[in-house]
Amino acid sequence: MERTCVLLKPDALQRGLFGEIVHRFERKGLQIVGCKMIQISDPTIEEHYAQYREKPFFGRLKEFMQSAPVVALVLEGVDAIETARTLVGPTKGRTAPAGTIRGDFAMSLQSNLIHASDASATAEQEIARFFRPEEIFAYEKVDCCWVYAEEERK
Ligand code: CDP
Ligand code: MG
Repeated sequence: MERTCVLLKPDALQRGLFGEIVHRFERKGLQIVGCKMIQISDPTIEEHYAQYREKPFFGRLKEFMQSAPVVALVLEGVDAIETARTLVGPTKGRTAPAGTIRGDFAMSLQSNLIHASDASATAEQEIARFFRPEEIFAYEKVDCCWVYAEEERK
């Protein structure tokens, strides 16, 4: 099983889409093993989007990400990183395919509702950035044998 980190950005809470977005991950079969609401600090957002610090949009992105709380999730499943990114869709909301979270609910490039880790190294870093070890819960989900074939669960 693999773990990925998802952030529901401030627009998700402001637009009342928390339940809708989490519902999509749940229905897909990704298991919620961590969930918390946080106000992102300066150092945390600067570290999280470090690769964009020199970009012209960084200041606006930082302000947006701190404009309201975010909800951080850790999702677990087989190929969880790729699966979550598929559900999220491409960055620009207005051209993201219908059926994806961004494609169905976002119009903006910046305010695109959600972040999801893009690779296993970044997933590990992001989980450690937003969660203490005791805030992540390993538990056996009762529908596991219906979500996966036995071979896939090994
Ligand atoms: O979130 P994703 O991995 O799809 O996109 P990214 O290219 O890693 O960019 C991270 C975030 O920066 C995006 O989700 C947008 O919120 C924001 N962004 C922006 O505001 N303006 C841009 N030109 C590009 C990205
Ligand atoms: Mg990215």
